[in-house]
Amino acid sequence: MSIRKIAVLTSGGDAPGMNAAIRAVTRAALSKGLEVYGVYRGYNGLVNGDIFPMNLRSVSDIIHQGGTMLYTARSPEFCTEEGMQKAITTCRENGIDGVIVIGGDGTFRGAQDLTKRGLPCIGIPGTIDNDISCCEYTIGYDTAMNTCIQMVDKLRDTAQSHDRCSVVEVMGHRAGYLALNVGIAVGATAILVPEVPFDFDRDIVQRMKRTSATGKKHFIIVVAEGVGGVMELAGRIEKETGIESRATILGHVQRGGSPSVRDRVLASEMGYYAVELLLSGKSNRVVATQNDRIVDFDIESALRMKKPFDFELYNIAHEISI
Ligand code: F6P
Repeated sequence: MSIRKIAVLTSGGDAPGMNAAIRAVTRAALSKGLEVYGVYRGYNGLVNGDIFPMNLRSVSDIIHQGGTMLYTARSPEFCTEEGMQKAITTCRENGIDGVIVIGGDGTFRGAQDLTKRGLPCIGIPGTIDNDISCCEYTIGYDTAMNTCIQMVDKLRDTAQSHDRCSVVEVMGHRAGYLALNVGIAVGATAILVPEVPFDFDRDIVQRMKRTSATGKKHFIIVVAEGVGGVMELAGRIEKETGIESRATILGHVQRGGSPSVRDRVLASEMGYYAVELLLSGKSNRVVATQNDRIVDFDIESALRMKKPFDFELYNIAHEISI
C-alpha cells in the first residue's frame, strides 16, 4: 500500500523533546511529498476525530519547547474494541494511510492494535523513564536527568548549610534508570532502585555513620519512585542516625522544560527515521537506539524484551560514595 497521508500523535506522559519529534515527523513527511495530520490528545484524538492538517509552519518554534503541542492523554476508550474501530474510521474517512505515535510502552500497544486492524503504525520512544527495553536512550530521558541534577544540586546547598540529610524521590515509573544516573551524578550517599533490594541498616544507616566518622556532615539519598516512601524513610534516618533529614519528591517538574541538545537531536533523527520506515512499507515497528545508532524493532518483540539494569554503574556509585 502506498503512503500518501500520515498522522502523528503523542500519548502517555509527556517528555521534553516530543515537540522536536513532532516537528521532524511533520517536516520529513512534507518534504517527501506526503500530507500530514496532527492528532490531539493521543488516541482520544483518533477516537473523536480531533485532528487537523499540518503544514511546514505548524511546527515552527517548537523545537526548544517542553511538553507537546499535540497535547497528550491516556485513553481508556481507545482500549475498547469500539474505541479502536472509531479510531480506524477517523483514519479511513480522512484518507490516513499510516500513523506515527510518540510515547512509551502503552502507546506502542495501541500502535500494535491499530496495525492489527490494518492501519500501519510506527512508534517513537518518548518517556523520561528510559524504560523501553529495546532502546538505550528514549526522548526526554537526558533532559529529565539534567533537570533532576539541577534540582538536587539546589537541595545539596541547603542540606550542606544545615548539616542535613536530603532524601529525594525521582520519577522512573517502575524502573530505576533515572534514579541511578541522577544518583551517581549528584554523588548520592545511597541510591535506592526497585532493581536492587536494599537493607535500611546496612545500606543507609551504617554508610552514613561510616562517612560521618570521616567528617561528612550532609547527605543526599536518591530514591526511585518505584521504591517510594521517602517521607517515612527520612523520619527513620533521622531517628537512627540523629542527623536531621528532609524528604523531597521532585515530581512533575522532571517532565517539563526545554529539551537538551541530546534529546532534540535524538528526536529529530527518530522522527525522520519513522517517516522513512512508513514510506518503505514497514509497519508495527518501534524506532530505537542501539550503540548510538538508530535502529528499529518489531513492536511485539520489543514489548517482550527485558532491559538490563546497569549493575556495574550501580556498584561504581556504591563504591565511590564513601
Ligand atoms: O512515564 C512518565 C511518568 O512521569 C512516570 O515517571 C510516572 O510514574 C508517571 O509518568 C506519572 O504519571 P502522571 O502524569 O499520570 O502523574
